[in-house]
Amino acid sequence: MALYRVRVTTGPYLMAGTLDNISVTLVGTCGESPKQRLDRMGRDFASGSVQKYKVRCSEELGELLLLRLHKERYAFFPQDSWYCSSICITAPDGTLSHFPCYQWMEGYCTIELRPGTARTICQDSLPLLLDHRKRELQARQECYRSLGMKLRGLLDRRGSWKKLDDIRNIMRCHKTLTSEYVREHWCEDQFFGYQYLNGVNPVMLHCLSSLPSKLPITNDMVAPLLGPGTCLQTELERGNIFLADYWILAEVPVHCINGRPQYVAAPLCLLWLNPQGALVPLAIQLCQTPGPDSPIFLPTDTDWDWLLAKTWVRNSEFLVHENNTHFLCTHLLCEAFAMATLRQLPLCHPIYKLLLPHTRYTLQVNTIARATLLNPEGLVDKVTSIGRQGLLYLMSTGLAHFTYTNFCLPDSLRTRGVLDIPNYHYRDDGLKIWAAIESFVSEIVGYYYTSDASVQQDSELQAWVGEIFAQAFLGRESSGFPRQLCTQGELVKFLTAIIFNCSAQHAAVNSGQHDFGAWMPNAPSSMRQPPPQTKGTTTLKSYLDTLPEVNTTCNNILLFWLVSQEPKDQRPLGTYPDEHFTEEAPRRSIAVFQNRLAQISRDIRERNRGLALPYAYLDPPLIENSVSI
Ligand code: FE2
Repeated sequence: MALYRVRVTTGPYLMAGTLDNISVTLVGTCGESPKQRLDRMGRDFASGSVQKYKVRCSEELGELLLLRLHKERYAFFPQDSWYCSSICITAPDGTLSHFPCYQWMEGYCTIELRPGTARTICQDSLPLLLDHRKRELQARQECYRSLGMKLRGLLDRRGSWKKLDDIRNIMRCHKTLTSEYVREHWCEDQFFGYQYLNGVNPVMLHCLSSLPSKLPITNDMVAPLLGPGTCLQTELERGNIFLADYWILAEVPVHCINGRPQYVAAPLCLLWLNPQGALVPLAIQLCQTPGPDSPIFLPTDTDWDWLLAKTWVRNSEFLVHENNTHFLCTHLLCEAFAMATLRQLPLCHPIYKLLLPHTRYTLQVNTIARATLLNPEGLVDKVTSIGRQGLLYLMSTGLAHFTYTNFCLPDSLRTRGVLDIPNYHYRDDGLKIWAAIESFVSEIVGYYYTSDASVQQDSELQAWVGEIFAQAFLGRESSGFPRQLCTQGELVKFLTAIIFNCSAQHAAVNSGQHDFGAWMPNAPSSMRQPPPQTKGTTTLKSYLDTLPEVNTTCNNILLFWLVSQEPKDQRPLGTYPDEHFTEEAPRRSIAVFQNRLAQISRDIRERNRGLALPYAYLDPPLIENSVSI
């Protein structure tokens, strides 16, 4: 007779416990135990409980390979879901085996768990285990079949805002230090430039070495700004001239809000890094084709003309940021990574264990977004000038141009030529976090893959990257995304980029939405008049008649506020309360990663103490592990 001691941990969540019958079967190299019900006096499997049981076998089972967990009806009680955290088995000789579970069991079913030691397919030779991997993935692919892109009162008030100050009223419910700062400084050129570096869309700027022909700016036009002794040509040569080009908006469909047509511009905004180290706008052309109907607006124009031109750029920023930088490049891409991870990698796979925490809630939040924001007549239709059809156009065009270089922060910064701009906190904090993730991922990859050949031979890993290439990037070679992984280095880079984009990049483009958007003129979601074709015509009234109506503004601010709320059970970057890795080496790597992030946080907080407007979106404790809102 051999006695195995079984310790079962139920998750501490609401409704995590079950009254259903739970049984186990232990499978070892020398045989398997009878299926045995886990039953003690009193309540079993309550939320947050740890319970101990005994399983008796006629003889020892050898090394434990699998644990079958069965959930079945108990008497007349209705079925309920169970969140099993983990199961720990002590063999007769005292050997401990941890079986991480960390999943809900719904309905009556049997699942098979592997011991916590992560193994790639190349490290499994027993037919039983190979068969287990295959069956697990078949079941998951059946489950995750499709990868699809798939404040009341004022909300009913139509018409223009009567005066700018009225917009403050809707900010009262939720003011932040940054939203107040934005309201005070939104008109200033320096703050307009600042937002390209440290606002919610810090990925737009490109350094220019020469002016594009579609933006015919002469030195005379900008000479009053550059000052004596400086000319446009020299500043181009010095790498001090930058462009934000909203070409993607040139042919976007536009729709009606409140029964009235809305308008979109496709601006070119030229910026200058001045000798004081501040980035300021030099010139704005509101369409992609120069001509007499498309004046180039300058800071030397009338205040209202210049403010309206900047507000048009802010509207373009809103559209490109929300649809592409935020929704497409974090939410939807991270959904594709989550789907491929769930479909192609078994529970015991080291890359599954590494990535799973970075997919938490992503499918759920995107499903909710599809049902409430992106649905026909949903919030996107109510709030934005381009509506749902425009959003689909922007995302498909954006995806067709998105590259692996855009996806990898160090490459993106280098290609955009923005490595030397001072006070670019997004870049500085982002690079530190990238390096910390890279070093952590290198350790994990180095532990499980001892050579490039071991990467190449992992058929599950190759199926995973192949599915991402085919489904997320539609098999487009020019995207530069890998279709297969040949070296440890390629694997490290790909995983680093995935974890960075699921966590830090999403925080950088998500968390400041309310801060920067609550003062509506700084991020208008729609424009009600066409872009101006002449100078000297803008007044306060025409300005207010161009901004969104009252109800559109309120809907939008409600949206901003909702999407800036992180879940209450936040899991900051690098925290892994579910212990999927049970070996010593990866657990040590996690601890080192956490220490490194803590040091980055201390450095950021120290830097922020000296700033009029602190930049905290990439402070590690404030970064969620995954796209969850
Ligand atoms: Fe988000």
